[in-house]
Amino acid sequence: MFYPDELVEEIRDRNDIIDVISSYVRLQKKGSSYFGLCPFHNEKSPSFSVSADKQMYYCFGCGAGGNVITFLMEYENYNFKEALEFLAERAGIELPQQSLSEEAKASWDLKTRLLEMHKEAAKYYYHQLKSEHGKKGYEYLMNRGLTKEIILSFGLGYSTSYPNDLYQYLKSKGYNDSELKESGLVTISEKGVYDKFWNRVMFPIMDTNNRVIGFGGRVMGDGTPKYLNSPETKIFDKSRNLYGLNIARKSKRGYFLICEGYMDVISLHQAGFTNAVASLGTAFTMQQSMLLKRYTDQVILTYDSDDAGKRAALRAIPMLKEVGIGVKVLNMKPYKDPDEFIKHLGADQFEQRVEQAINGFLFEIEVLKEQFEMNDPEQKTRFFSQVAEKLVGFSDELERNNYIEAVSNQLGISIDALRKKVNELGNRIGYVPKSETKITNAERKKMEKADGNKEAQRILLTWLSDEPSVYHKIKHIISEKDFVEPLYGRVAQLLFKQLEANEVNPAKIINRFIGEEEDAKLVAEVFNTKLKSGLSEEEKNRAFRETVLRVKKHSLDEASKKVQDIGELQAIIKQQAELKNISISLS
Ligand code: CTP
Ligand code: MN
Repeated sequence: MFYPDELVEEIRDRNDIIDVISSYVRLQKKGSSYFGLCPFHNEKSPSFSVSADKQMYYCFGCGAGGNVITFLMEYENYNFKEALEFLAERAGIELPQQSLSEEAKASWDLKTRLLEMHKEAAKYYYHQLKSEHGKKGYEYLMNRGLTKEIILSFGLGYSTSYPNDLYQYLKSKGYNDSELKESGLVTISEKGVYDKFWNRVMFPIMDTNNRVIGFGGRVMGDGTPKYLNSPETKIFDKSRNLYGLNIARKSKRGYFLICEGYMDVISLHQAGFTNAVASLGTAFTMQQSMLLKRYTDQVILTYDSDDAGKRAALRAIPMLKEVGIGVKVLNMKPYKDPDEFIKHLGADQFEQRVEQAINGFLFEIEVLKEQFEMNDPEQKTRFFSQVAEKLVGFSDELERNNYIEAVSNQLGISIDALRKKVNELGNRIGYVPKSETKITNAERKKMEKADGNKEAQRILLTWLSDEPSVYHKIKHIISEKDFVEPLYGRVAQLLFKQLEANEVNPAKIINRFIGEEEDAKLVAEVFNTKLKSGLSEEEKNRAFRETVLRVKKHSLDEASKKVQDIGELQAIIKQQAELKNISISLS
């Protein structure tokens, strides 16, 4: 499969990188670039930049970088073809037919069909709920205190007691048995055809784009299982979704609430906490954590107040911290879950509990404490040792001290005694268990020099792409061949062509490096190397001159190592001598 370069470039050009990345990452304009939290590594302050001029992104923290195509490849895990197809569709560009492999097309079509089918099913269930058949379901939801409006905004529905009326309905809409099987909404076997959900109130599960991807169904009473959920399908990956996120993502509150159940989310939203999402009874995952990170930096866990809920919170805390989300834990006692709490005490009291929510670390300490007999001096000592061990884990001194203070307050013990204990332990085992690699001085010198030469080439390429007019000042001295670092040589070849034609376009250059994953990143780095700002005219001139000379000198040095005859060597020596007298100036 092969797409011509011009088509690739047209597709890239017609998809503005700011628009595309904005739908994944919150970006803020700062000067000529946009900044946000890097989606490719964990960070607390934004070092991910997107440039509208260059149509490129680059992370100063982890070095991820590229153009709109590589972004989708990295972010969505698309291959080149999938990324192009996505962007072509987005820009309304038709791709040549034969370029879609049969297999890819079939899988793409099936996903589309399943999404349409789920939308139909949700509409069907909703319609049933509103009809005479669904009276029981509607009453059940009313009895649980839900309003008409909230039923509508969550698209709740009802599955009837007939064995396969959804199946019949979807058949009538033109879906075939093999598609229906893939949906998980029906089972088809020798024993017959059955709908998965019977006589339940239905909760459609939506992705962040409001597409229905699965369902949960609750019995209206005490039957088992209490909830039945869609199986994983081509469109439903439980570990990558959060119930309610399609609405919560628009919430203006600065934090998210994470709870366990469907009804908790719905009750919270009805009470005005439109920032609630649920992990739906299954263990919270790293993917969900990363998903949340796109929308918030702070969550409050409102898991059930039973042991299972506590364990779930303990598991979720490190995953949230890992991606840089601050965690607090809300105490719901004496009620089991947010739904019951709100029903009994109302929204204002819940708001108070939100304000009283305790820090995730202090919550961990509190749970740890329950495992010890605190009137037994020996057990108490062991408990404090474990607390100290946990505190040593904060490598930042200021943060560690803050926690030492908070924990000593929480436990009612002397801050000095606790600090002493933590410091003793820290001095013994070290605060940062870092593995330092030993490099000799000579090795380091050599590396620095090699790095310097490489860096000079990189800076010069950056300079040329940032200020193309500079090209004419040096083209008599430097050619693309002087970029001896192989990758930079390839970039120079493309860039010099653009400079010659007076149309510099870094994102187009990146097209050529896609598929050589690390290379695309390194090329992005070239175009995003920060040139020192705030230099005086004279300093800038000097820096420019030094950079050009360094690139040229290194190029000549390398060439002299490869000479074949004495004539060649003499030519190089002559050029080297001339370098000293050459005049290079920006002005
Ligand atoms: N759950 C499930 N299957 C079950 C039980 C629970 O999938 N058999 C999931 C549901 O997403 C449910 C969540 O786990 O919402 C929490 O379960 P639980 O606390 O038992 O139910 P509640 O959410 O309190 O449901 P309700 O208020 O309707 O009783
Ligand atoms: Mn409940």
